[in-house]
Amino acid sequence: MLLPEGVFIDGRSGAVPNANERYVKPVTELRGLYRDAAAFDAYVAQNPAAVGYEVAGFRREGADIFFGTTTMYPGKIGDEYFMTRGHYHVRRDCGEAYYTQSGNGVLLLQTREGETREVEMAPGICAFIPPDWAHRSVNTGAEPLVFAWFCQTTAGHDYADILTHGMRRLAVDRDGKLAIVPNPGF
Ligand SMILES: [Fe+2]
Repeated sequence: MLLPEGVFIDGRSGAVPNANERYVKPVTELRGLYRDAAAFDAYVAQNPAAVGYEVAGFRREGADIFFGTTTMYPGKIGDEYFMTRGHYHVRRDCGEAYYTQSGNGVLLLQTREGETREVEMAPGICAFIPPDWAHRSVNTGAEPLVFAWFCQTTAGHDYADILTHGMRRLAVDRDGKLAIVPNPGF
């Protein structure tokens, strides 16, 4: 039988001491995500051990939901801020919630039909991600961006579409300020 429990989440660091799923995504594994390939090569040559983001998840066998944190480190490659790969859920009836706890960023969302939206990521804002909206988070600040996510265990990640085509809109630095611009390569 599943039993209730309280799970500590450190909203500053994103640490979840009782997490039972974790992964670290090195920047070197994000080749192709950024439009400026030369800037990417220069970045990883100078920062071969850089981490883009890490994920900690708390999951109980047989439960319908799970949750955890994503901690995104600050950085830029070319004019693009550090970002996650972005994904649809395999199950098209599963949405998600992203509750930002520290840092600043933007959540880029799009549908398969071509709708796009952006939701600010700032402490206290919980982003509602409806079913079948692809989502990518972007750290636009100088500090780690930490958010807690809550999702159905069977939602599944479909990364292929975004890795292949990119997203319709980009979050870029224009003279030190965030700009959301159409992706010329989409
Ligand atoms: Fe998701």
